[in-house]
Amino acid sequence: MLRVGIIGCGDIANLNVLGYLHSQDTELIAVSDIDIKNAREKLERWGLRTLKVYPDYRKMVDKEDLDIVEILTPHHLHGPMTEYCAKAGVQGISVQKPMAHTITDCEKMINICKEKKVKLKLFENFRFYPIYLKAKELLDNGIIGELLNFRINSIMAGGPSMPRDIKSLGWRQNFDITGGGPWVYDDGIHKFSMALWLMGQKQVEKIYSWIDYFSVVYDGPSYIFWKYPSKYPDDPPKVGTMEITLAPNLYYPSNYYVCDEFIEISGTKGLVWINQCTCGGNFVSNSPQFPPIVVCSNGEINTYGNNLPRDWRYSFIKSTEQFIEVMKSGGEPIYTGEQGKNLSIFAKMAHISDQQKRTVFWEEITPENEKNRSCFVEAPKDVDSAGLHKFFARKRKDLRKGMKQGLIHKELKYDKDLLLD
Ligand SMILES: NC(=O)c1ccc[n+]([C@@H]2O[C@H](COP(=O)([O-])OP(=O)(O)OC[C@H]3O[C@@H](n4cnc5c(N)ncnc54)[C@H](O)[C@@H]3O)[C@@H](O)[C@H]2O)c1
Repeated sequence: MLRVGIIGCGDIANLNVLGYLHSQDTELIAVSDIDIKNAREKLERWGLRTLKVYPDYRKMVDKEDLDIVEILTPHHLHGPMTEYCAKAGVQGISVQKPMAHTITDCEKMINICKEKKVKLKLFENFRFYPIYLKAKELLDNGIIGELLNFRINSIMAGGPSMPRDIKSLGWRQNFDITGGGPWVYDDGIHKFSMALWLMGQKQVEKIYSWIDYFSVVYDGPSYIFWKYPSKYPDDPPKVGTMEITLAPNLYYPSNYYVCDEFIEISGTKGLVWINQCTCGGNFVSNSPQFPPIVVCSNGEINTYGNNLPRDWRYSFIKSTEQFIEVMKSGGEPIYTGEQGKNLSIFAKMAHISDQQKRTVFWEEITPENEKNRSCFVEAPKDVDSAGLHKFFARKRKDLRKGMKQGLIHKELKYDKDLLLD
């Protein structure tokens, strides 16, 4: 049995815990959170009320002889926590995305884990969403030929959605802690991950972006576009775009975050549309107009993935299962620290481009350039401080309207809804 400890019992812990609750190979030993009341509430919800809670994660790591630690805290703590765990002898460290608030910290994490022979995993769950896995299989089998263009529209809607701890919005306003905006850097990591993985690419060559700030915690609407590197001189150009759409009055129920994603990929022989990820399972999934995957090729339209679960939680469970397997049998986690760092570089390029109003190249985002501040993501200036307030007021109004129109919002219960067959 692998002994597991969780550091940080905030919103995302509710999803990261799932893979361990279901595993026959691991035992959750203890959790750590500076907010003990919050940690105890989570344990109660997970049916694990007798588990030990440590306000100081270092004591948990020193005392509990853990094999795996899940780090689920604000971004700037990922680096120091990884370093402490690696030095204390923890063999497997899984860090929620983004890997760290700076590329400097990403590199330190990679180096210390290499030195101590620790398996370091960057936890990016979209990579394990069953619909995306199916789409990747189709694309790799050449269903639309050579891949030319990736488009993702990332829409933040009005809700209703899972309840969130208001504290988790507080630290997200501080760029010294986050290293980038919640949509472009934090949530964006998922989308940049899909832009590389689905397209069979390791990095991008250059980016141009325009990022608006509705408020400090909403770095949108935004438009980011990039070019992938050419492998051969006669390669057709390969490009991608990400749109971040703010639609606070869009009535759009979600069991998780109130954000959904729509991907379109064009190839030399066809087109693929991948409908939804985070809000999978809501009324859009149940409509015939939004099958999970639609392919146009050879003069035909076909749909795929209709038999797969359209529920975001499976991406978390499968991601954790892969890490447990790596810890049991060897191999590399998905993602490795190096891949995690690359996703942070990708997302930071978008911020730097907007900040400096120019095209930014991959090679520019380095620890050296963070140090001399030529590529250091700064907090946005002149943001309307009332923006967030107005946004929540609109959301509440919209939710009331939805309720009047018969909206049913179901909160997941750990005892039944979340347990798998
Ligand atoms: N994969 C995803 O889809 C996804 C979604 C949301 C958040 N995340 C990532 O997960 C991480 C946590 O985000 P969240 O939304 O859960 O934040 P949160 O604010 O809800 O939770 C963070 C928790 O860490 C605790 N904490 C802070 N300092 C600590 C310390 N020194 N020791 C122990 N605990 C400490 C806080 O008390 C809090 O309970 C972030 O890096 C975020 O980007 C990933």
